[in-house]
Amino acid sequence: MPQLTINDITINLQERGQGTPLLLVHGFPLDHSMWTGQLDALSDICRVIAPDLRGFGASGVTAGTVTMEKYADDLAALLDGLKITEPIVLCGLSMGGYVAWQFAFRHRQRLAKLVLCDTRAIADSPEAAAGRLKMAEKVLAEGSQVAADAMQPKLFGPSTASQQPQIVESTSQVMRRNPPAGIAAALHGMAQRPDVTSRLGEISVPALVICGQHDGISPPAEMRQIAEKLPQARFVEIPGVGHMSPLEAPGLVNDEIRRFIKE
Ligand code: MLT
Repeated sequence: MPQLTINDITINLQERGQGTPLLLVHGFPLDHSMWTGQLDALSDICRVIAPDLRGFGASGVTAGTVTMEKYADDLAALLDGLKITEPIVLCGLSMGGYVAWQFAFRHRQRLAKLVLCDTRAIADSPEAAAGRLKMAEKVLAEGSQVAADAMQPKLFGPSTASQQPQIVESTSQVMRRNPPAGIAAALHGMAQRPDVTSRLGEISVPALVICGQHDGISPPAEMRQIAEKLPQARFVEIPGVGHMSPLEAPGLVNDEIRRFIKE
């Protein structure tokens, strides 16, 4: 698998196709493989790039705290490394969406369009942030299984486990395989991420906001409000699925992304 050394770290990535770059940013505590249903399927209309964020998959790990701003800057450096200067379509899921907000604020000129899948604009409540720090401690002491066990029940829609058991199992394997230090660093970073709600009006590029009908982490009502606050956004609810809409319903999600890119 291709790797690029950027700043102080090696970033692992998958790449397919040519044309407008579509950069896919995975959620927590996952890796590029959550985009399996998009990598090949969208490569006929764009250059699809799916990296493992710092601390995940086969990318290098930084212990301590990795902020959403840092991941966003990593993505900009990755584009430099790939010699991509044209504005990109950035698509992030959940934590990938938290990173996408920061990319939009910090690297505005590199952004053509934005796809937000199953993500939030608000910060953690003090209780949620404290819970993340506790989980980080536990992951470092007991291993990545702790995060996998906590996340697994929240990720999928009610029928996905019975109808698509293979994606539930492969996601669980990815979460267990990810390095504890990378998971803990992301937990610290998410705990201190800012509330970006009041800044959504600054994001003037066209945006597509996608949410699974049964997403309990970033529910449709909350994501609809995000779309209403973005200057140029369309909201789409994907029926029958949960938080992992691109993985659970790749056909429906790809149709929406494809239409959005061509607009
Ligand atoms: C994710 O899918 O990236 C996580 O649910 C994000 C979070 O824990 O806030």
